[in-house]
Amino acid sequence: MPKFEQSYRVLQHSANADVRSLSAYRSKGGYSALEKALRELSPEQVNQQVIDAKLRGRGGAGRLTGEKWRITRQSEDDQKYVICNAYDADSRSLAARTLLEQNPHQVIEGILLAAYAVGASEAYLFTRSTSAAAHAAVQQAVQEAVEANLVGRDILSTDFSCTISVLGAEMGFMGGEETVQMALIKGRRGMPEQRPPFPAQYGLWICKTTAINSVETLVNVPYIVREGAAAFASVGSAMTGGTKLLTVYASPTSEPQVVEVPFGATLRDILDHAGLSTAANAAGAVVVGGAEGGALPLSALDTAYDFDPLEEAGVIVGSGIIELLPVDTCMVSWAMGQSAYLTKESCGKCVPCRLGVKRITGILEGIVSDLGVSGDLDVLDEFADYVPNGSLCGFGVQATNPLKTAKRYWPEHFTTHIQEQRCPTGTCVPVRAHRFVTKHVLP
Ligand SMILES: Cc1cc2nc3c(=O)[nH]c(=O)nc-3n(C[C@H](O)[C@H](O)[C@H](O)COP(=O)(O)O)c2cc1C
Ligand code: SF4
Repeated sequence: MPKFEQSYRVLQHSANADVRSLSAYRSKGGYSALEKALRELSPEQVNQQVIDAKLRGRGGAGRLTGEKWRITRQSEDDQKYVICNAYDADSRSLAARTLLEQNPHQVIEGILLAAYAVGASEAYLFTRSTSAAAHAAVQQAVQEAVEANLVGRDILSTDFSCTISVLGAEMGFMGGEETVQMALIKGRRGMPEQRPPFPAQYGLWICKTTAINSVETLVNVPYIVREGAAAFASVGSAMTGGTKLLTVYASPTSEPQVVEVPFGATLRDILDHAGLSTAANAAGAVVVGGAEGGALPLSALDTAYDFDPLEEAGVIVGSGIIELLPVDTCMVSWAMGQSAYLTKESCGKCVPCRLGVKRITGILEGIVSDLGVSGDLDVLDEFADYVPNGSLCGFGVQATNPLKTAKRYWPEHFTTHIQEQRCPTGTCVPVRAHRFVTKHVLP
């Protein structure tokens, strides 16, 4: 089994388990990165270290964090903000809540370093209100940090000041999207906004420039400042420094586990590290990226876990979930289930996503019920292009990944249902009595 424990940066080793209290975190070197930054480094130097470390956003898109911060820093706004996105949009991902519960002070130290680097004096941490233990743990840690003059005015007797407000909301998948969070913080209805302009140019309150980062991105910053960019980037791939937290499921109904692996590890090594074998779990496919991710056949297990190789294979980092599917899974039915879930989670603001994902679900329901015709495959292909291309936010851009990967890697599952009117794995039950009639999407 690969020894990824040696590269743990944000989860704690069992021997180093409890750093939840301020005193325990400080006894392991906690807040020394903040002290070093405030006393020895300029904000530009902190920013440059984060660029050199090849820290890429863990929230899904993989943008270079330091480049995003540089735009925020260079803005002439007198007031700037930092938002820590600790929402876990995909409710089956445990990454954000694990960090908040297990290592809250490292999250706070990361937020403060980001605020120092971009020139912000107010930060918000946005989480799911239903993750009560995580919410309580980070609130208590902020309180401890305020009392120790690590958060608030004139931090550590320097002229750097920064407050942190912890906010919680429960609004399904879309609560994790950045413009939705900014709207909610401002007390508005949580709906995605058109970009550009990006939050780094047009953010909170009266359009003030805002650096919004995933909690998992920010929790890596103390290590970079304390140990240096080269030490950080010594773990990871050529393109992406550091590690990734993954929520791994042995099957759709199993208990999850959270693991930390270096970027660039293969899917096979990750499963080994999690103690899973595709043979022992009678697996037929691996889903990468959670609800908006795609499915890969076992022949793709040597794919490296990194933004670009995953995208080439048709899957995404997404919510950081990896899940094995049983060998008798009908992939038409699987894609239908994912699509039905995404239909419910779409906010409905734009037509391609609101109607397109629903239509895909309907056509797949027809095929699963052995009511499909060969023309359905062409219509599905049209939707698979039309929805991502016409959608306003990242939700619609990724929503057709389950369909696209199921069609790409298991075309025979579709043709067997349509041409032979039977399920290729003998597992599907009809869900419709009538065909879902859909004309071509594009003229
Ligand atoms: C539908 C949707 C849900 C998202 N959910 C999350 C989430 O739960 N956590 C997160 O960090 N980013 C999430 N993102 C990405 C954020 O919008 C944003 O890009 C991210 O917080 C930026 O941080 P990063 O640069 O550190 O990745 C989501 C995006 C979309 C479109
Ligand atoms: S793509 Fe979907 S989730 Fe995003 S704004 Fe449009 S309807 Fe809403």
